[in-house]
Amino acid sequence: MNVMSTVLPISPELEKNDASALDRVRALESEYLLQTYARYPLVLDRGKGCFVFDPEGKRYLDFITGIGVNALGHAHPRLVKVLREQASRLWHSSNLYYNAYQGPLAERLAKASGLKRTFFCNSGAESMEGALKMVRAHGHKINAEKYEIVALHNSFHGRTFGALSITGQEKYRQDFEPLLPGARFVQPNDEVALEQVVNNRTAGIVLEWIQGEGGIFPMSIEYIRKARELADRYDALLVFDEIQCGVGRTGKYFAYQLSDPLVLPDVMVAAKPLACGIPMGVIVANDRAAQSIGSGMHGSTFGGGPIACRVALEFMDILDGLLPHIDKMGRYFHAGLEGLQKQFPFIREVRGQGLMIGVDLSFSGKQLVLDALEQGLLMNCTHDTVLRFLPPYIVTEKEIDRALGILKRVFKLAAKRGDAN
Ligand SMILES: Cc1ncc(COP(=O)(O)O)c(C=O)c1O
Repeated sequence: MNVMSTVLPISPELEKNDASALDRVRALESEYLLQTYARYPLVLDRGKGCFVFDPEGKRYLDFITGIGVNALGHAHPRLVKVLREQASRLWHSSNLYYNAYQGPLAERLAKASGLKRTFFCNSGAESMEGALKMVRAHGHKINAEKYEIVALHNSFHGRTFGALSITGQEKYRQDFEPLLPGARFVQPNDEVALEQVVNNRTAGIVLEWIQGEGGIFPMSIEYIRKARELADRYDALLVFDEIQCGVGRTGKYFAYQLSDPLVLPDVMVAAKPLACGIPMGVIVANDRAAQSIGSGMHGSTFGGGPIACRVALEFMDILDGLLPHIDKMGRYFHAGLEGLQKQFPFIREVRGQGLMIGVDLSFSGKQLVLDALEQGLLMNCTHDTVLRFLPPYIVTEKEIDRALGILKRVFKLAAKRGDAN
């Protein structure tokens, strides 16, 4: 008999036999869900700190955090307290009325980002949609021909139509063409190519400081500066997608703050870790960009709800003191992975910043993700060959050592199997 610590959905047939929790969940999902996800064979039941547990109580070190969302790990006591308190007070108010928390959170974001005005929504893609509308509206005000958006090959901006239109990876787009007209793609880190494509028709330039889904590829500071210069030259809006690399992930509030001297965007979008698992996305804009969008031009029923805002405010308070720790742990993990690179020649490169790290292999990393899972470590694989790590910001050296130990065993197994051959 399975000993389960929780109530799981059970179909009557499966209840009769001795199916595992995984089998039960899988059976129902395969019957009733749109089959859009290729999930790993694991049901998550609960989490505490940097660990998650399956229904049988096996524990896993969580170094992917729901793709960069659970920034403070799981069940952080301060977040749980705020969430409980707000749940008994007010869940939802819509944007017909004020709640007490949007203003303070927007003020915090303004101070952290150096940009002025925030719009609240519920996901990364939704924040990108809003930013694209701002770009279009900005162009419109100048002339009807100014609607092109320059984006990067290998980028990822979300699954909605607008965001897909500027996502520079064919595999996400191909089934949905034709997409929004006016998207122009250019090679990352090629300033000459960028200069060739930006012109008077350009309403906006959109880029990720560190391409996440694309395989943890950082942009060079020269490239970012060129993007800023061209946006200014042609009166276009510069948009930074900080959905994966932002809100503390790199050891700065936002990845663009790694630049010195600082390169500011006109618009910045962020989401994932902002409310640590309660859905929230934001568009943060300077005054010039904010002028593009006026009353009635955009909105969201759920955006800026009191629960999400309060959790995000509490998170921002905690993040203030955590940034140096993120940087320190990032360096520690990076150095440990480079140590492994010396032992395993099939590791081509260790890339990234802070706690956003990719390990590029000379072969597909998919089997290694399964091997690590078996050994109690959660990570994922992006861009086929890149093992991606997005650990929680509260991770300690001890937990990093544990992850490195598991990875060493996984790499040894891969070497023995001859995965690289
Ligand atoms: C850089 C970037 N932009 C946009 C998105 C889309 O965010 P969401 O899945 O919340 O819509 C993602 C998601 O992975 C992302 O990494």
